[in-house]
Amino acid sequence: MSFLGTVRAFSRGIRSYVRRRFNYIVVAVVAGLVGIGLTSGYATLVDYTNSLNFCAHTCHEMESTVFQEYRHSAHYKNEYGVVVKCSQCHVPHDAWALTLGRKTVASFELYTHFVVFTGEGPDGVKKAFEARRLQLARRVWAGFAETNARECKACHKYSNMILSEQRPSIRAQHVDAMKIDENCLDCHKGITHHVPVDPNAKPAPASNSFDIQ
Ligand code: HEC
Ligand code: HEC
Ligand code: HEC
Repeated sequence: MSFLGTVRAFSRGIRSYVRRRFNYIVVAVVAGLVGIGLTSGYATLVDYTNSLNFCAHTCHEMESTVFQEYRHSAHYKNEYGVVVKCSQCHVPHDAWALTLGRKTVASFELYTHFVVFTGEGPDGVKKAFEARRLQLARRVWAGFAETNARECKACHKYSNMILSEQRPSIRAQHVDAMKIDENCLDCHKGITHHVPVDPNAKPAPASNSFDIQ
């Protein structure tokens, strides 16, 4: 068969295939387009809700509390000008399924935002938030304990620390921690936010209040 003949036979074959399978092809193309639409919609939503702007400034209870503390922390302002966004500590890195899980939990947080954190004026919301803080912090600590501080370790690796440049007291801590790949939060609570006070904790006795009998 001549070259032209081969090309004609080939295109005839394709046309007849398309005619026979037209419905399947339409379904496949539409499914592909819907898939691309959903994936890019999801990616856009995740990017938007991971932004510092969204996390820090959408809700007053964040803006007036945790954000203010974060603003003065080393993860926002430091010698090198590196900014660590809220989401880099609070949302799993590079794992879309885990991110989807975290975002699903976050959508329940909207309930708390609209139903629990209400109050008279801006200070009312802040008070309602402060009252729940210890409970929220405990939840975050439990999360880090479960993942062994996965989000911290996405940036900080024990194996990449130049221990010789750390003060001897710090080095000693990290040398031990490294051996068991310890959770950073065992020692580093409250580096970005204030550690919430436990209202039920018994106050430490003042040194001059010994009850001598
Ligand atoms: C996106 C990367 C990133 C993530 C995630 C991250 N850090 Fe950091 N961290 C940094 C950078 C960059 C600095 C350096 C700031 C500087 O030079 O002072 C830093 C500084 C620190 C410091 C020293 C300054 C201080 O505040 O005492 C500690 C301790 C620390 N990080 C612990 C943690 C812990 C614990 C977590 C997890 C809860 C964490 N980091 C998550 C990037 C990150
Ligand atoms: C066993 C306790 C312990 C564990 C676990 C631990 N650290 Fe530390 N780390 C310390 C202490 C104590 C300091 C000194 C704190 C200070 O000066 O405020 C320190 C200081 C640091 C500093 C500042 C270093 C410097 O030279 O100023 C960074 C950064 C840091 N830790 C990151 C981490 C990260 C990230 C993890 C988890 C991968 C971690 N640490 C786990 C005890 C620990
Ligand atoms: C370096 C990691 C890191 C960054 C950045 C960070 N957080 Fe946190 N966040 C934590 C840790 C760890 C806790 C648990 C309490 C603690 O130890 O301070 C926490 C606790 C919280 C809580 C629970 C309430 C509380 O006070 O403990 C909220 C809400 C929160 N963060 C929101 C935010 C928002 C909003 C931002 C950005 C403006 C942000 N976080 C930035 C690590 C981080």
